[in-house]
Amino acid sequence: MQESSLQGLINIAIDGPAGAGKSTVARRVAELLRYVYIDTGAMYRAVTLSALRAGIEPDHSERVSRMAASLDIRLLPSENGQKVLLNGEDVTEQIRSREVNLHVSQVAAVEQVRTQLVGLQRVLAGRKGVVMDGRDIGTHVLPDAELKVFLTASVRTRAERRYKETGQADRIDLEQLEREIAERDQKDREREISPLICADDAVVIDSTSMTIGQVVSQIVELSRTKKVEAK
Ligand code: DC
Repeated sequence: MQESSLQGLINIAIDGPAGAGKSTVARRVAELLRYVYIDTGAMYRAVTLSALRAGIEPDHSERVSRMAASLDIRLLPSENGQKVLLNGEDVTEQIRSREVNLHVSQVAAVEQVRTQLVGLQRVLAGRKGVVMDGRDIGTHVLPDAELKVFLTASVRTRAERRYKETGQADRIDLEQLEREIAERDQKDREREISPLICADDAVVIDSTSMTIGQVVSQIVELSRTKKVEAK
């Protein structure tokens, strides 16, 4: 028997569209269970930031993937959740800029970039005890995850949440933000490789009228059931 299953550790996959609250929820669930939180969107964002800085067109798949292969991306736990290091530089804030928001879907559609990042994500989850959030975690990265959650909310609610999160300098009006989120959803859903879809065995949680605390409690409760089943 594997060491991880003796300790009763499971992997939890949380997928869903932008602004559904995945990262906040995933981070809190990980804290409560003392699991490791892995924000896979941050990895695609770090590659995007690097491409923009290097003046590489985000949809130039060959150049983007060549550049991505040379990057050292690390996710470290920190007081505010997770620190993202790109070749040793702390880019936690820069990867949330509007510029990155606007181009990350293009970078995330590049096959070689996905292959590379998925490899890294699987290594990170190898010992179990991970809460990983993204778009393709339950369907592709960790198809054997013991618990899969598909977290969603209405476009309006998601835009409102992102609006509150955005710094003053980057702030745009809510309607524009709503359009950009809907556009990004569409690109993520329609791309050929690992599109955003709900895994057949995922539990769907619509957080439109739920508090973060309610969503977190539901997932922690589900994880207890899955842990018992996994033993
Ligand atoms: O969750 P987020 O907004 O930080 O994700 C940024 C982008 O990366 C988003 O457009 C979708 C993409 N992404 C992906 O394609 N696959 C993942 N596992 C995570 C994010």
